[in-house]
This record gives sequence, structure tokens and C-alpha cells, in this order.
Amino acid sequence: MSETAQLKIGDKTYDLPVIEGSEGEKAIDISKLRDQTGYVTLDIGYKNTGATQSAITFLDGELGILKYRGYPIEQLAAKSSFIEVAYLLIYGELPTEEQLKAFNFDLSHHTLVHEDMKKFFDGFPSKSHPMGQLSSLVCSLSAFYPESLKQNQTPEELNLSIIKVLAKMPTIVSWIYKKSLGHPYIYPQNKYDYVTNFLNMTFGQRTEVVDIDPVIVSAMNTLLILHADHEQNCSTSTVRIVGSSASNIYASVSAGISALWGPLHGGANQEVIEMLQKIQEDGGDTDKWIAKAKDKNDPFRLMGFGHRVYKNFDPRAKIIKKACDDILEKLGIDDEVLEIAKKLEEVALKDPYFIERKLYPNVDFYSGIIYRALGFPTDMFTVLFALGRLPGWIAQWKEMKEHKEPIGRPRQIYTGATNRDYVDIKNR
Ligand code: ACO
Repeated sequence: MSETAQLKIGDKTYDLPVIEGSEGEKAIDISKLRDQTGYVTLDIGYKNTGATQSAITFLDGELGILKYRGYPIEQLAAKSSFIEVAYLLIYGELPTEEQLKAFNFDLSHHTLVHEDMKKFFDGFPSKSHPMGQLSSLVCSLSAFYPESLKQNQTPEELNLSIIKVLAKMPTIVSWIYKKSLGHPYIYPQNKYDYVTNFLNMTFGQRTEVVDIDPVIVSAMNTLLILHADHEQNCSTSTVRIVGSSASNIYASVSAGISALWGPLHGGANQEVIEMLQKIQEDGGDTDKWIAKAKDKNDPFRLMGFGHRVYKNFDPRAKIIKKACDDILEKLGIDDEVLEIAKKLEEVALKDPYFIERKLYPNVDFYSGIIYRALGFPTDMFTVLFALGRLPGWIAQWKEMKEHKEPIGRPRQIYTGATNRDYVDIKNR
């Protein structure tokens, strides 16, 4: 007989099914709780709530494990390309050579954005934040591809929407960057792979750049792979919940971009470098800033430290730290801000405050350092995170649709005023 949990309310006992995942994770299924008992559960911040059953990403925060479709992140980061990982996440299997070729072909033939979209780029003030632009521009793709709004799309039509958003995002991201510089846009080139094309459109000064450094292409692939999915985090849950109302893929991804923007989520990579710059301008006294982070009367937090689920180490941070050291050495970069980062990390890792609270550098502590070394401006960092997270959002959105999940609609415990009579404005 399968396991059940028992819930006692007053003198009544209810049996609740226990669900077990393929990695042995257990959950008490409360989906019929309100109908059976009249009660709901209260879990602010969803710290204990499984919102779905998913076969995409597994992570164990205590053991520091992260796997995409069963493949350890360490192996994927070392051996695969970002596009191979995107295929794996979206379609469930690593592609064969043929499948990868066809996927790359499809992607490279949908990289152009409609020329009319240039007016949108021109309309944004040049200093406006790239994440706000990205969210708006991705949502506006729905205006150019209205077939994506059609309910009951065939699998082929749905796949085309997936290919389009995946193919066009690097072009949009690069053009946001070019616009911020006031430089001409560089068009995508079919002959380049996904990542090289992106780097060419971003850093190329001519219409074609033939010498994108392989060290940079490889670092970019690693960074994008490490960010590609992270199960039901804030932005991914947003994508699923927006998609659950049968919104189109562009609107759903755009909502995920907005959720990622916040400094407690994807925005942390920008905050890390800004924090390091602030420490540098203040004289570089890391002990002083560590003390501020520990002081409960001071709102300052050490950005890039701590994680909601990883409580021993962030496996992505381990991989990225090595990539970070490699790239700084290979590019011969000597930057005082990066020295401050190393010092801060060293001090924090030995400090009982951080040890007791299991606060370790997360992926964002190092990603910002690499992006800076590659020459990206700080406010582009979170956009690069979004570029990496895109296949994960797509895979989760697709899975939610395939599972025919109901519209996401949490309950609440109301704590406001009860019955009140309307008072005329003159008598208030
Ligand atoms: N600096 C100083 N103290 C911290 C930090 C930090 N970065 N993070 C947590 N703490 C302390 C808290 O003050 C709290 O201390 P207390 O128990 O004495 O009150 C304790 O550690 C637990 O912190 P919570 O906020 O309860 O932990 P939670 O799991 O809710 O938050 C979060 C995780 C949001 C990531 C948090 O650690 C944080 O704000 N970190 C900085 C921002 C950051 O780097 N975000 C990126 C996350 S990774 C990603 O999105 C890819």
C-alpha cells in the first residue's frame, strides 16, 4: 500500500496521499485538502510548497547537487554547448548529431527581428535599464507573431514559437547593448553558432567579426549553461503561472524576465559588482563591510552570498569560480575590484556568522566578475542571466502545457477589516 500522511483537525483524521519523486523526495499531496476539510495551507514565500511535478531539473540544496534531465551540471558544463543543453531541457534528451544540426539550422534562420521593432529600440531612453527594455521587447514579439496567441496550437506551431523566441533573444539583447552605446546594430549571421553570433552582434564593430576569441566563446557557453534552469525559482514559477492562464510564450517569458530583474534574484549579479565598486571607492576595507553585513541594524547584505535552497555550496559557483580564475588569467586582467572580491570571499568563508548561517558565494558572485572581465557593462549582467535562463523557462512552460496544468491561483488568509458601512466623503 502506498504511504499516506494523517492530518488531525479537532476529532477528525484525514488521510493524505504521499507522493514520491524519482530522486526520493517526498511530498504530502494536499490538492483536495480544502474540499475535504475546509482548510487551506499557509506558506508565505512557498518555502515548503511543491507547485508542480516536473521532470526537467533536480537539485538537492543540502548536498549541492544540480542535474538537468538527470545529467550532472558538472558534466554538461565541461562537455556540452549551450545549445545542446537548451535542446536537452526543452525536448528531454541530448540531441543526436542530426538533431543538433537541424536545431542549429532552425535557430539560425529565425534570428532576425522585424525591422519595425527597431522603432521600439529607438523609443527607449538610452540610459533606461536593459531588463525593462528586454521584458517589453520580448512581449512585443507577440504583436509580430500573432499566431502565437492562437489557443490549441499544433505541436509544430508551438515549436515554431519556441524556436522564434530562442533565436531572437540574442539579437534583442545585443541590440539593447548597441543602442546604449549609440552604435549601429549588427545583424545576425547564419554561419555563426548561437553564442558566437551573439558575441559578434554585441562586440563586433563591423558587420562581421571573424576573430571572436575561443576563450570568450567557451566562457560564455559555460555561463549560459550554468544559468539554463533552476527548477521552480521565482522567475520560473512566474513563467509557469502566467502560462497557466493560456498566455502566449512571449508574454510568459517576458513576465519571467521581470521577475528575474529583482536584486534578490537575477539582479544580484549587477548588485555584486556595484557593491564591490562601492567598497573600492570607500577605501577597500573589506572587514568594515563584512561587519556591516553582520550588523542586524544595518540593511546591508553581502550580495552574491546565500541562497534559498543551497545551504552547503552552490555547485554552479564551484564550476564558475574555476572558469573565473581561468578567464582572468587568460585575458591577463588585473582589476582592483576583482581583488576586493577575492578578499571578501576569503574573509567571509572563515567568519562564524557566514559559516553558521550557511552563507556561501552563489553563482552570481562570480558571474558578475566574469561578465565584467569580458567587457559587459554592469547593467547588462541580468540580461545575460535571462539569456541563459531562457531554455529553462521554455522547457518549464512547455511542460506545464503538456501536463495541462490548471490555472495557478493560490488562496490567502484574509486579515483585513470585516463589515464596514460606506461613509460619505464629507463625513470621513
Ligand atoms: N549577507 C548577510 N547576511 C545574510 C545574507 C547576506 N547575503 N543572506 C542571508 N543572510 C542572513 C540573514 O540576515 C538571516 O540572518 P538571521 O538568521 O540572523 O536573521 C539568515 O542569513 C537567513 O537569511 P534569509 O534571508 O532568511 O534567507 P533566505 O533563504 O530567505 O534568502 C537570499 C536567500 C535571498 C538569496 C539571501 O541570502 C540574500 O539576500 N542574498 C543576497 C542576494 C543574492 O545574492 N541573491 C542571489 C540569489 S542566487 C540567484 O537568484 C541566482
